[in-house]
Amino acid sequence: MYPSSRPRRLRATAAMRGLVRETAVASRQLVLPVFVKEGATEPVPIPSMPGVVQHTRDSLRKAAVDAVAAGLGGIMLFGVPANRDATGSGGIDPEGVLNTALRDVRAEVGDDIVIMADTCLDEFTDHGHCGVLDGAGRVDNDATLALYAQMAVAQVQAGAHVVGPSGMMDGQVGAIRTALDDAGYPDAGILAYSAKYASAFYGPFRDAVESALLGDRLAYQQDPANAREALREVALDLAEGADIVMVKPALSYLDVVRAVAEVSDVPVAAYQVSGEYSMVEAAVACGWLDRRRAVLETLTSICRAGADLVLTYWAVQAATWLR
Ligand code: PBG
Repeated sequence: MYPSSRPRRLRATAAMRGLVRETAVASRQLVLPVFVKEGATEPVPIPSMPGVVQHTRDSLRKAAVDAVAAGLGGIMLFGVPANRDATGSGGIDPEGVLNTALRDVRAEVGDDIVIMADTCLDEFTDHGHCGVLDGAGRVDNDATLALYAQMAVAQVQAGAHVVGPSGMMDGQVGAIRTALDDAGYPDAGILAYSAKYASAFYGPFRDAVESALLGDRLAYQQDPANAREALREVALDLAEGADIVMVKPALSYLDVVRAVAEVSDVPVAAYQVSGEYSMVEAAVACGWLDRRRAVLETLTSICRAGADLVLTYWAVQAATWLR
């Protein structure tokens, strides 16, 4: 007696497997997050993210050229300022590190790649929170919205095609959309960090941006236990005009990526965050995982779950494998 149903028929040869493969990741779907450090004269390695650096202005320009050459879809810029203050004014200042870097990158690569900017105050505040604080030391949602609006306009003026509000303030997409439209930038896009969880996997990123945060972000980022809440956040962001909605982190939240993909009528992004990068790199360094296979498996899984684009620190490396 033979089993009549034989799924293995479709796995017999590489050609057969290729013929029936459901998910293919392409470099055009990948976005490289990059860090630029004010005043740096040499790229500075980030110990908890082996292979990732804080760029100088010049090395960032070169990284942007390399990203274009690799066929990436986008590059997401994060600034590491020399000075911070209570309101994160360096994030809005046209001469601040992030806006300066946006001008550099736009001048270097133009429209050859989608240039994105992190629209959040945490890298620029001396307390490390994503917004400004009220008298009681809590993050003041509505006062923060006014600053995000100014920050987004400054980023688009500097050269960003897309702004990425990542602070999880209520109403941030609507406030930014209105500000961009009023400033004469109706074509600038918004990549909304819609479902951003309060995750341990951001640890290495906080080293990368030299975060000043002492407490936590539990009062504004989502509880990892909640999936339904992500759909509410996505619905609000869509109603406010988000062009792309994002789930973050990726690997621990594939169910959320899938749920969002089922309801969203705009593209869905997923952010494979710093800790996802570092845990694989650490295992690779120990000889415990094969880098190429592990990285491509994670990216394929994120796309299979429903992501149309993926932010990943492996973007350039993965693009060379995907050629
Ligand atoms: C906030 C922001 C964070 C990340 C992206 N944008 C950090 C945080 O919320 O604490 C994390 C990205 C990563 O871990 O790779 N501006």
